[in-house]
Amino acid sequence: MIKDKIVEMAKNAEDLLAPFCTCRGLGLHGISHLRRVAILSGRLAEAVGEDVESAVVMGFLHDCARRNDGNDLEHPHDSAVLARGLIERFFPHLEVDRICDAIEGHAGGEVTTDPLTACLWDADRLELKRIGRTIDLELLSTKVAKRLARKRMSSLRTILKVPEKVVPRSR
Ligand SMILES: [Fe+2]
Ligand SMILES: [Fe+2]
Repeated sequence: MIKDKIVEMAKNAEDLLAPFCTCRGLGLHGISHLRRVAILSGRLAEAVGEDVESAVVMGFLHDCARRNDGNDLEHPHDSAVLARGLIERFFPHLEVDRICDAIEGHAGGEVTTDPLTACLWDADRLELKRIGRTIDLELLSTKVAKRLARKRMSSLRTILKVPEKVVPRSR
């Protein structure tokens, strides 16, 4: 599936689901974050042979019930509850339990062996650079996300002209 198809799928999910998301209007976790995670999750799903539509919908809904950009500990659970109702209404053909389990666990700081869950968790963690945080390769579940993270970090180093290892100057 070409990237344009995945972008179109994310756009369709956004048109249907965005009006129900409480995170609308947030700076860091608003609709543009949901859109980027949806697209990246879909692309990872294609790379690992998982269902792209499930990955896109899951990516779009993973933070849907966030109410602020702070340390909202309840948002994975709240988002899974809201996502369940929306998936049952708009996407009844998808595996709602598997998707909602992935959403519920997305902020737990763990890795997973379930390939569909991995698409969401890795897509969200690859997004950490938007808030200036370094991506921890140990917390990525798929090889393809690790490759992508290395590529992104090295292109960032090139842009910033930062050497791979900073050698402290001797006095
Ligand atoms: Fe989150
Ligand atoms: Fe997120």
